[in-house]
Parts: sequence; C-alpha cells; structure tokens
Amino acid sequence: MATPVWIGSGWKMTKRRDEALDFARRLAAGPADPRIQRMVFPPFTLLREIKAALAGTGVLVGAQTMHWEDDGAWTGEISAPMLVDCGTDLVELGHSERRRHFGETDDTIALKVAAALRHGLQPVVCVGETAAQQQEADAVLARQVAAAVSMAGQDAPVMFAYEPVWAIGEGGEPATPGYADARHERIKVVAADRLGVPPLVFYGGSVNAGNCAELIVQRNVDGLFIGRAAWTVEGYWDILRRVSAVL
Ligand code: PGA
Repeated sequence: MATPVWIGSGWKMTKRRDEALDFARRLAAGPADPRIQRMVFPPFTLLREIKAALAGTGVLVGAQTMHWEDDGAWTGEISAPMLVDCGTDLVELGHSERRRHFGETDDTIALKVAAALRHGLQPVVCVGETAAQQQEADAVLARQVAAAVSMAGQDAPVMFAYEPVWAIGEGGEPATPGYADARHERIKVVAADRLGVPPLVFYGGSVNAGNCAELIVQRNVDGLFIGRAAWTVEGYWDILRRVSAVL
C-alpha cells in the first residue's frame, strides 16, 4: 500500500440520472481524506453531469469501457476523444463482464489501452482468472497483463485492477487478503517488465465493509475497486471511513 490509496465505486449498469446526481452531490459535500484518491465510474450517459457535480472535489470520473478507434463506422461505440469531450479522467478496460458478454479480448484491450494513453485518459485495466483457471492464476494474469501493456511505452500511466472472476458479483467469494497480495505482486512484476516501473494495482471482487480494511493494508494493494457495496453513497462512505482508519 502506498498513499494515496485509490478507492473506486463502479456503478456498472445502475442508476438513473436523479439517483446518480444525488450520489455525486452528497459525495461532493461530504468528508474527504487527502490520503485517499476517490473515483467513480458512471454509465456513459451521466459522465458529463457527474463530472460537473464533482468539480473541485478531486474525485476522478471514469468511463466503464470505450472503443479503440477515434471515429468511424462502429455503431453504438464510444471513443477516447468522446470521453475526453465529456471531461472524463479515467477509463476502465477489460472488465470480466465485458470479456465474457461482449467479446473483449487481450488484443482489443491492448488497442484500447494504447488509444486511452494517446488521448490522455488513464486506463484501469481489469485482469483476473476464472474459477476454472485458479490453479494457473499467475500464468493467466501474466498473459493478460503482458498483452494489456504490449503497446504502452516506458512509464505509461497504466493502472490495474485485480478482479478474480470468481470473486465478482452476487455469489462471489472475496479473495483473502494474502491471496490478493500475492497476485498483485505478480501483476506488478509482469507490467514493470514493459513499463519500467511497477503500476498501481487495485483489488476488486466483493469488497465490502467487513473486508476493506484488511485488504487495503496489504503491501501490494494500492486501492479497492468496489461494485455493489458502494452503489449507495452511504456504502461508499462507510468503506472510505474504514480505510481512513487503517492508513
Ligand atoms: P462487486 O463488483 O464489488 O459487486 O463484486 C466488483 C467489480 O466488478 O468491479
């Protein structure tokens, strides 16, 4: 853990405009710990308004995916320059739900990382093994991480989220802190081989009020990426408070 630690709330496909703006306005008015870098990942439709609602707070705003081309005949897609147009700071790439349901591959994720960097968006690349791959987790991670940074240059500001697929969502079993720490260490080593420096690595997958403190104090855990437990601002605050208490 290095400070600041990064604590993110990924909204996935949840929230209508009123609820999202209420979350952002209350977050903006609430307490902030300078040792925590907060970040939220709204759906595309809300990026611009959430960014405006959080202006001056230091909370970073990220998109949940994007296309690798800047423009063209890609019906339904959103490009990096479009995200920049909305004031977006970060972009989450390669979430396992996108790999599984929308055909994202290591190759397309590499193209997306390159596009994000080209346009000044900081990528957060999600990597993680499935339950069936658990015996070979480090090899799977090495493959995903090496591919993700294969088109990135020295010192590129790529960040990772280690999100074991078996840990995510309803019925997910959170990784133990020790298991997560060991995987994070591996991710840093593989990425540093290309980037020259070890990247920040966040943990995601059933993070909650009960496990956030012991996860964040691990040596190689630089942040937390939260889904369900931070879909309300109260849930997010609860985790932020518990993390503050152990920094
Ligand atoms: P979860 O989602 O916290 O609801 O398990 C995590 C994620 O998908 O990033």
